Amino acid sequence: MAKTIIISNRLPVQLQISKEGITALPSVGGLATGMKSVHSGGDSVWIGWSGLTDEEIPEGKEKEIDKALAGHGSLQVPLSKEEVDGFYFGFSNRTVWPLFHYFLEYAEFELKNWEIYRDVNQKFADVVLEHSEDGDTIWVHDYQLMLLPDMIREKRPEVTIGFFLHIPFPSFEIFRTLPWRKEILMGLLGSDLIGFHTYDYERHFLSSVRRLTGIEVSYNEIYADNRIVRVDSFPMGIDYKKWHQAALKHDSPKSSEQSDLQKRLDSHRELTPEGKLLLSIDRLDYTKGIAKRLHAFKYFLDKYPEYKEKVRLIILAVPSRANVPQYQLLKSEVDELVGRINGEFATVSWTPIWYFYRSVPFENLIDLYTSSDIAWLTPIRDGMNLVAKEYIASRTDQTGVLILSEMAGAANEMNEALLINPNNFEQIADTIYQAINMPIEEQQARNSLLQNRLERYNVEKWANDFMTSLKSVPSKGVANITL
Ligand code: ADP
Ligand code: G6P
Repeated sequence: MAKTIIISNRLPVQLQISKEGITALPSVGGLATGMKSVHSGGDSVWIGWSGLTDEEIPEGKEKEIDKALAGHGSLQVPLSKEEVDGFYFGFSNRTVWPLFHYFLEYAEFELKNWEIYRDVNQKFADVVLEHSEDGDTIWVHDYQLMLLPDMIREKRPEVTIGFFLHIPFPSFEIFRTLPWRKEILMGLLGSDLIGFHTYDYERHFLSSVRRLTGIEVSYNEIYADNRIVRVDSFPMGIDYKKWHQAALKHDSPKSSEQSDLQKRLDSHRELTPEGKLLLSIDRLDYTKGIAKRLHAFKYFLDKYPEYKEKVRLIILAVPSRANVPQYQLLKSEVDELVGRINGEFATVSWTPIWYFYRSVPFENLIDLYTSSDIAWLTPIRDGMNLVAKEYIASRTDQTGVLILSEMAGAANEMNEALLINPNNFEQIADTIYQAINMPIEEQQARNSLLQNRLERYNVEKWANDFMTSLKSVPSKGVANITL
């Protein structure tokens, strides 16, 4: 029977090995959390990397790994340490990630990493080819696997292939600096449909195809090698019901035992009833603007000293890509800034910043979303930013204010949020002031519009729209255009 195959570097779970055995932890990040809801329908297979290198898997445990993943509808592409270093930490996260987020100065152009990226994409393609047949629909995800569509197409020309990029596609002037720019474009053009979060990313991609390949582009269709490749934007939604219902349950008087975190959040509220909690949640990533946010917070406290002892900032930073030097530097910078600001402003009864560097379970995310008066998200660049959407979905009484960077893809659909430029501290300080003083009726009016939109354009609708569009791309028979 024809099936859907989802392929991404991260699977819905990551495996870890300890003395107690193999454990599966939920993967963090927009791709995994979003696609998990699509995958839970049960009629898809998900192919990806388990999170463990070959060297980390004790001999004889391979079958257990396969079994653990099969429980999540997943199949693994085994990778050695050298492959993970070159493909994941190397080309994906030291070249493509910084470049596509406009951090040109962080991008490294190492031939060896490029070669490993290419070889690992081929390895993924081999596993996909082994487990797929004509008639299947293949949905490839994200920047780690941009060569995969063409590698699959080469061996299985009749199969339907969709590709979705979860990060920004940069402007031509940035993309052209990549030595392997043409190979990346040709890899992507093996797809029938290429999806982006926003129209701007789509436009940048089409412009790069036009200027770098000479292939004919007409409106949002590319005439590549006897096929039409359609390009479109599909802003990713969230599993609205999941967040909203979990928050309803959390807020209900019958709700079962409170977490320690919730007790702590409640005691803060009791001690300072007029106090406000500001929340930010992100992977510890330089694109998320965490260091700038801390500087802006200090700026706010200096500009509006009447809020000392009244406002508390919670920063939940999830460890991410810790082998990449830029992430290590950022960790030191954030540790230092938090220490400095707390050192300068704290009183015996007040610590301005609560900083958590860890991943937390879903229940604690709900505690934080439901207890925070303001969500403050300041990415310098972000493909979408699902945290912004999750916060709004969790506000069951429609109170709460979202302050969101205009550089996040989500800002396009969330005009009722307070949009800020993450580099403009003056504007940010004034916006925090505005958020703290926003009348409840205004909060509810804004959030009601946001919630309606998020509920309608949820992740299921996003996946259905993508799939419907994928199935409608005329697959064959356009004039043969020589590349
Ligand atoms: P990115 O994909 O760049 O990490 P997003 O905001 O789009 O950014 O997605 C982050 C996802 O990771 C969200 O779905 C969020 O719920 C989840 N997440 C963020 N922080 C944590 C955490 N500390 N523990 C568990 N999940 C988290
Ligand atoms: C972003 C990327 C995903 C990635 C996630 C977490 O959302 O678009 O592809 O999975 O970050 O990053 P990680 O490197 O841990 O997979």
